[in-house]
Amino acid sequence: MKTRNWILGLLVASGLIAVLSLAVSAKTNPGPQEKPFYTMFFEYSSATGNIHPVGESPPVTAGLLKYGEWTYRGLCIGCHGAKGDGNGAVWELGEQYIRNKEHRLPRKPRDFTEAVFKIRSTPSGSLPTDLDLFEAISRGLVADHDMPSFKFLPERDRWAVVAYIKSLSERWVEEAEYQEEAVEIGQPPLPTAEMIVAGKEVYKQMKCAKCHGPKGKGDGPSAPELEDDNGLPIVPRDFTDASQFVGGSDPRGVYRTFTTGFDGTPMPSFADFLDEEQRWQLVWYVMSLRDDWDLDKTRQMLQVQTAAGGG
Ligand code: HEC
Ligand code: HEC
Repeated sequence: MKTRNWILGLLVASGLIAVLSLAVSAKTNPGPQEKPFYTMFFEYSSATGNIHPVGESPPVTAGLLKYGEWTYRGLCIGCHGAKGDGNGAVWELGEQYIRNKEHRLPRKPRDFTEAVFKIRSTPSGSLPTDLDLFEAISRGLVADHDMPSFKFLPERDRWAVVAYIKSLSERWVEEAEYQEEAVEIGQPPLPTAEMIVAGKEVYKQMKCAKCHGPKGKGDGPSAPELEDDNGLPIVPRDFTDASQFVGGSDPRGVYRTFTTGFDGTPMPSFADFLDEEQRWQLVWYVMSLRDDWDLDKTRQMLQVQTAAGGG
């Protein structure tokens, strides 16, 4: 386990050196076919690994925190910065040296001192659960190559880095007593053609199209004006491409996203406006906009999963 981390640390270190040289060459020699410099971070992001933890989370001890700090310094510091405020070298060098905005990191890395998170099973404005953080780190925030997936890391390393991140903001101590519970999300009902028609109506009533567009392509009338809390332009998710989903592309992930919203972005929480039935209708309507959508196959898959006790 340790050797693996050393190797990863070395990879990141050599990545940073490459970033520096690329940053300089991009300044002097910009070309249209060049890949954005930060995509190298995605090259060591493996396709294998689990997003949901299989084992228990270890108790948070001084040792685990130290281990988390070590993991952070190896793998996260380049983007999230030494203080965890998001001002890592990849971000800062990009701002300073990369003229072509398309070649910069599209989003500012999360500021862990502020502790405002997108992926939460808890209500808007509250802190996420440890599991939310674990899953976000595992899945990555892959839309537009924001952050690579770390699902290849051993689970203990991921829990350790979660504990370390939580030590970077006072919010975790201050709000410990009144931390909100995760919203309950049940098993998705089997989709039907009628549910999807009903969901289309909910989509209309809630004005999702204002941002996501009438066909969910992310091209609604408000889309060009949207900004995140860092003042960076942000596009509403294109529902036709499930691979870009960062909050989970499965039915329960979609349910959670529009129920709790993405803090720090224009994506609001609709918790107060929808009942349970409407939420599942909306889930299936959003999912039916995918390029590869197939109602019968989805029903079959869900039946198999339910029979196996998953979801
Ligand atoms: C290539 C740069 C990069 C690396 C390396 C990186 N991150 Fe990130 N990370 C980002 C960016 C950019 C965001 C913000 C993405 C967004 O807002 O969509 C982010 C967001 C996050 C979030 C916020 C998720 C949420 O729900 O808001 C967490 C947690 C996180 N990173 C943890 C980590 C950890 C832990 C590591 C190391 C194991 C790491 N990151 C490595 C770029 C990076
Ligand atoms: C004010 C604009 C706005 C409205 C209204 C809006 N969204 Fe969004 N939505 C966004 C933006 C922007 C994002 C992308 C956030 C990001 O990249 O972090 C997003 C992301 C999402 C995602 C994230 C998918 C993922 O996991 O990556 C889902 C699902 C979603 N919206 C569903 C909806 C639904 C359903 C509605 C209506 C009930 C809705 N949105 C209304 C702006 C909006």
